[in-house]
Amino acid sequence: MKQLFGHLLVLGLLVNGEVLLAQETIAIADRETILLDGKWRYIVDPMENGYYNYRYKINPNGFFKDQKMSNESDLVEYNFDTSDQLNVPGDWNTQEDDMFFYEGTIWYKKSFLYTKTNKRTFLYFGAVNYDAKVYLNGEKLGEHQGGFTPFNFEVSDKVKAGENFVVVKVDNTRKLEQIPTVNSDWYNFGGITRSVKLIEVPQTFVQDYSLQLKKGTHDQVEGWVKLEGDSPKTIRVEIPEAKVSVSTQPDANGLAKVSFKSKLKLWSDTDPKLYEVKISAGNDVVTDKIGFRSIEVKGQDILLNGKSVFLKGISIHEVAPFTAGRVVAPEQCRTLLGWAKELGCNFVRLAHYPHNEDMVRIADEMGLMVWSEIPVYWTIDWENDRVLANAQKQLVDMIIRDKNRAAVIMWSVANETPISEPRTDFLKRLTETARATDNTRLLTGALEAHSVDGYRMLDDPFGQYLDVIGVNNYCGWYGGTPESCADLGWKMTYDKPLVISEFGGGALQGMHGKATERWTEEYQEAVYENNIQMLKKIPFLRGTTPWILMDFFSARRPLPDIQDYWNRKGLISDQGIRKQAFFTLQEYYQEKPVQLGR
Ligand code: GCU
Repeated sequence: MKQLFGHLLVLGLLVNGEVLLAQETIAIADRETILLDGKWRYIVDPMENGYYNYRYKINPNGFFKDQKMSNESDLVEYNFDTSDQLNVPGDWNTQEDDMFFYEGTIWYKKSFLYTKTNKRTFLYFGAVNYDAKVYLNGEKLGEHQGGFTPFNFEVSDKVKAGENFVVVKVDNTRKLEQIPTVNSDWYNFGGITRSVKLIEVPQTFVQDYSLQLKKGTHDQVEGWVKLEGDSPKTIRVEIPEAKVSVSTQPDANGLAKVSFKSKLKLWSDTDPKLYEVKISAGNDVVTDKIGFRSIEVKGQDILLNGKSVFLKGISIHEVAPFTAGRVVAPEQCRTLLGWAKELGCNFVRLAHYPHNEDMVRIADEMGLMVWSEIPVYWTIDWENDRVLANAQKQLVDMIIRDKNRAAVIMWSVANETPISEPRTDFLKRLTETARATDNTRLLTGALEAHSVDGYRMLDDPFGQYLDVIGVNNYCGWYGGTPESCADLGWKMTYDKPLVISEFGGGALQGMHGKATERWTEEYQEAVYENNIQMLKKIPFLRGTTPWILMDFFSARRPLPDIQDYWNRKGLISDQGIRKQAFFTLQEYYQEKPVQLGR
């Protein structure tokens, strides 16, 4: 654990070379929070006019001051209170037609009334894409880079009784030295894309906790509880249903180890058992729903609770059904994961970045195992230490947030990254960071394959650092005809499980024709039929997450009347209509046993 916190602190300070307020995020669990969601005022600022003055210095009277005219002759050339409004959470691209392609800065402002208490108060953001600079009542709280993980700032001494205002400068400009970098095949949705909350906690509170089965056991729970504030002498951890009640003492840093034996009912895809866990410290009590299970690899097998499983999956982007913007509500998660269950899935690949917390919690409830990923995607700036620190921080932030979710069985540190020495060293470092932060889950990524004598060969050096080998392969779409895939053979230099983490093809829903005609549903169906024949012949295959559940926006897909800036590889259209290939995959999953006899 000490490694973890030391890690966090160092990473928190180093990212992007600026000293960030290295605030460890609060595990919210079931805490009462004050939502600041809803309508926020906004100003579009492509010239950074609200931040810099003309000599390119930070303007002390920038938009973060929310200036007002103090008399009729005053010159103030902006006014949040008469500006338009955006929904928070939400991307701006799909809220206003004239902002669909906008990349740059947008300033958000929210006023709120607050009643002071003797509690500590934190301002919490579920996620902001990409660069966030946060101000409260005109004073800078701090910054955060990275579009998919939470962050918070303590505001106990800054929030006032009565009227307050939050201003957030959000810049979604893509940059070479960011994670992801300038090129990605998903929409660069900008904005405050997840909820904003005020969290009130006692002077001493449970900042975070981790409870999981100790690796290699089915009845030994191990973990820790981290307190902030003057530590009380005792912390109690209870699982009432299992008659577990243990107490532990925090060290000088507020960190308490937890360890106990218990014959808990194990979480699985077929029986997703969650226990109510209660953690008490002083006058703070936090409850959460946690599942307990083991996940391991043994040779070419993936073992869930000691039994070999086949991962019948589907890839999913965090894109809302019907609106196609960022997911902003739990019911949208339920729709997407419900479609995955309808397909016959027991596994989902949440591509290519950490999805919102509800998505993972609902997967916990529904018995869907999860591949969770950071957006180290394609051509990252591999030889830049600040880029590595950024990737490490996004990885640690993802693990910190979801470490108690039984559904998450693997962390992916990369997708389709061209092989080079700097790239493989960068990814090796990420696997070391992941194992130092969480030694209970499997590590994976989408590697690079190449063709040798008609075979697909998997010998990417990155694979030596992983537990599960992932690879994307578009036989019948980016090469070969659909029919050529049925007999395509695979070789791998690793005695490890393989997950084909992407295959598939595009179809415009409702377009029909011959199976040789691109963009018809029949063509997509032929791609699936033949790739499934290929899968059946790979002896070391232990799962697949075809690309992709639902059509999604991509600025890389302009083909008029077919794509119109949509990636059409979905098995379901953005309006929820199943294409023919949906049923092809469903049939395969229905005939495929989950538990492999071993
Ligand atoms: C790649 C990539 C996806 C992309 C897909 C496609 O494998 O991982 O993000 O959307 O191919 O080309 O549609």
